Amino acid sequence: MKITVIGAGNVGATASLRIAEKQLAKEVVLIDIVEGIPQGKALDMYESGPVALFDTCIYGSNDYKDSENSDIVLITAGLARKPGMTREDLLMKNTAIIKGVTEQVMRYSKNPIIIMVSNPLDVMTYVAHTISGLAKERVIGMAGVLDTARFRSFIAEELNVSMQDINAFVLGGHGDSMVPIVKYTSIAGIPITELLPKEKIDAIVERTRNGGIEIVNHLKTGSAYYAPAASAVEMIEAIVKDRKRILPCTTMLNGQFGIDGVFCGVPVKLGKNGIEQILEINLSETELEALQKSAALVDENCKSLQTVLS
Ligand code: LAC
Repeated sequence: MKITVIGAGNVGATASLRIAEKQLAKEVVLIDIVEGIPQGKALDMYESGPVALFDTCIYGSNDYKDSENSDIVLITAGLARKPGMTREDLLMKNTAIIKGVTEQVMRYSKNPIIIMVSNPLDVMTYVAHTISGLAKERVIGMAGVLDTARFRSFIAEELNVSMQDINAFVLGGHGDSMVPIVKYTSIAGIPITELLPKEKIDAIVERTRNGGIEIVNHLKTGSAYYAPAASAVEMIEAIVKDRKRILPCTTMLNGQFGIDGVFCGVPVKLGKNGIEQILEINLSETELEALQKSAALVDENCKSLQTVLS
């Protein structure tokens, strides 16, 4: 298993280290355009191997040739948000970056699975899919796992119970229009509505929607990276170990949930072939409408890129 991580910033570096520590690959290559940064960070990580107990060969490079024959490519390149910016503000700049990155990735790997982390997430997944020509099952966006992790952590905190016992789904686009699905949120199988009053649940849903900006406002110089990296690595683990995990991920929908030809976060089965199934679960009318509205916003942004991508 060879995994390439594009972008040696905070998300890319944190994800690389987690991949190595979990021994998910024999080889991890960290690629960035900035000279010295991927080499230095990767060497530093490699040197932690004897004490952190991993044998993964991890190295950095500025040359995409080193990504040759990757099984999985995690794309974290691009600009991150600063206070006052929406994820959509990054649209044009990151489209140009992700287009170039995807072309380079495809020059050296024939049939990788691409996991997208760059924002605006759903649109960047569309860009990578369009440029790569890969099957839609092999171009997957990471956002639902992150948004759900935030949702789960806030519920666990509110109830003072283990995070492990919280099951939930946050669907839709990775933006203000995301859709936390209360109906499928449970604590060790107990519906959340039995343990928390509506106002508390509404407040947690609202905090989840603003989870990204809450971190941006603290950091001021960039956006979150520990939870995004951990979420991307959970997806990578599901693929590498062919675990058939059911996770919310961004994938191209073809009619499911009444959405067609748009990348959007929905529950999927993740295994060695990437997205192996889309689970078209029953949603309430309001949730379905919210999901469709969220997808329509993604679609609008994708359509605005047609001239840039052709
Ligand atoms: C967030 C950014 C990474 O949600 O989109 O933190």
